[in-house]
Amino acid sequence: SETPASLIMIFGATGDLAKRKLYPSLFHLFRKGKLSEHFAVIGVARRPWSDEVLREHVRDSVLTSIKDAENIEEFVSHFYYKPHDVSDSQSYIQLKALANELDQKYCLEGNRVFYLAMAPEFFGTIAEHLKTDGLTDTNGFHRLVIEKPFGHDLESAIELNKRIRNVFSENDIYRIDHYLGKEMVQNIEVIRFANAIFEPLWNNRFISNIQITSSEMLGVEERGGYYETSGALRDMVQNHMLQMVALLAMEPPIRLTPKEIRSEKVKVLGALRSIEQDEIPQYFVRGQYGPGEINGEKVIGYREEQNVNKESNTDTYVAGKLMIDNFRWAGVPFYIRTGKRMTAKSTKIVIQFKDIPMNLYYKSEKNLDPNLLVIHIQPEEGITLHLNAKDTGQMMETTPVKLNFSNNHAPGLNTPEAYEKLLFDCLRGDATNFTHWDEVALSWSFVDKISHNWESEKADFPNYSAGTMGPTAADELLEKDGFSWWPVT
Ligand code: BG6
Repeated sequence: SETPASLIMIFGATGDLAKRKLYPSLFHLFRKGKLSEHFAVIGVARRPWSDEVLREHVRDSVLTSIKDAENIEEFVSHFYYKPHDVSDSQSYIQLKALANELDQKYCLEGNRVFYLAMAPEFFGTIAEHLKTDGLTDTNGFHRLVIEKPFGHDLESAIELNKRIRNVFSENDIYRIDHYLGKEMVQNIEVIRFANAIFEPLWNNRFISNIQITSSEMLGVEERGGYYETSGALRDMVQNHMLQMVALLAMEPPIRLTPKEIRSEKVKVLGALRSIEQDEIPQYFVRGQYGPGEINGEKVIGYREEQNVNKESNTDTYVAGKLMIDNFRWAGVPFYIRTGKRMTAKSTKIVIQFKDIPMNLYYKSEKNLDPNLLVIHIQPEEGITLHLNAKDTGQMMETTPVKLNFSNNHAPGLNTPEAYEKLLFDCLRGDATNFTHWDEVALSWSFVDKISHNWESEKADFPNYSAGTMGPTAADELLEKDGFSWWPVT
């Protein structure tokens, strides 16, 4: 299937996201014949570029990630540029004239996608102008795609949501969480709901705990300014981590429609045990990296990074224990951890099953290893099932074995990038893998309690060295429950 005719307006066309993700992803869709030939892109940004400059920029951005870019000339000919002032109606009126012209030229049927790939402080203003200045006055569909962060806390998210909902209906708002576009994140549901052997065990009778780790090796890079106002909790937990929790914990939807799937996820987020202020240290651990070593190279600490306060209280690491108070999950901790400047770039989910009732096979006085199901999100994509089998030989001894399924023998080649999938979904009007407002609101109200507490109390930072798996308190978080983090490398 291919996308319907559409005009795509990218606000923030000269920015980093457009360059790294959006142009290459659109090109992939184009090359695979998934993008209708009835498409045009208007790049919108402040800089005084021309169509030619944008086309050159798009060509470059595609060619850095894709070597054999045949038809690139035809692809870039669909791109137009419009210098723009986000708060000036005149600017929108000119944009509208160009949009109408391209609508005719490419037979776009009035279908429009407005992609806001830029600083969130302008989301509300832009959405309002799109309506008041008539850019949404066509017969086709009008969809708004917005990048995170969706607000800074619940209150600001509500405010932002009000403004954009004055213009776009919930069904036409596509809030990006790029983790939902990852192949193996999408695979969580399939593994759970398409196999007879997992779902019957997927509950507190058989699962002892679930661990989700998303570690990065990079520091904050040039994003110190943004990150100082965010920290790992808002940057990763409010969105990506809680989305993975929801997918792991949700009930089977009655059908695979966006409405049914999202409403099951909402129920999980609504069942998260809310944590009182004085209990926060029992459930959450924060960290900030100091100087250390990554791949044998010395790196500076967070407080020395560009645009970061020398005494910053910002978390670059979070570990947490989430309890989902419903029938299925009562008593099963979901441990999450994420951070910058850790040992490896890796996102993995480990589902640890309970020990069998009685062990016949003591091996050197040691208990049997528990069964684990590991879902490898990135960089490898696949699943591993850890079992116990007989060790070859005379004795009835056991040995751990691993059943492996790997999705990517040639890394990066087969799996479409998250953005490619999400753009395709949005153009086709499938909002399943975008965040519904109800999910955003519940996630913020969960996270707000923690961030308010952390902001009001100065932490003893830095408390982990770059290149490590985080502060020791994160290990203690599991140890006191009788568990420990499974290694991710
Ligand atoms: C983004 C965060 O949402 O996710 C970044 O803002 C983080 O700080 C990134 O680096 C991680 O994404 P991925 O796909 O590399 O795991």
